[in-house]
Amino acid sequence: MGSWHEVVEAKGLKTDEMTHGRAGGEDVLVVNTAGAWHAYINRCGHMNAPLDLGTFKSGVLKCPQHNAVFDARTGAVRGQPVHAAMPGLEQLPAEFKEALARMGPIFARIECKPLAPLPIEVSNDSVRVFV
Ligand code: FES
Repeated sequence: MGSWHEVVEAKGLKTDEMTHGRAGGEDVLVVNTAGAWHAYINRCGHMNAPLDLGTFKSGVLKCPQHNAVFDARTGAVRGQPVHAAMPGLEQLPAEFKEALARMGPIFARIECKPLAPLPIEVSNDSVRVFV
């Protein structure tokens, strides 16, 4: 059973900013979209990269790992992951490149799921999330 946890002070997060913090044993992402607050578990719906290391602009969250894009207001997937070649790949040993080539089709089939919004409330300048 979950409970409410304070994650951040409301005045500490301006419009179009995000932060993360621990709540109920989880790493929780909090975003401020034009004064409307939203919270998610701080993990990408693709392969669990921490979303706070990505970008948040104009209501859109972009994952730092493969650039999947999420609507910060709903958690909906707005752009699928992009599996681009890694810089410097050509310098790796042939065995390593072969292993990566075998994993490519597997990674390509991993579904990117929407983020599940967490209940959130702002009161007394405190942003609280139910986890
Ligand atoms: S882990 Fe986020 S797009 Fe792959």
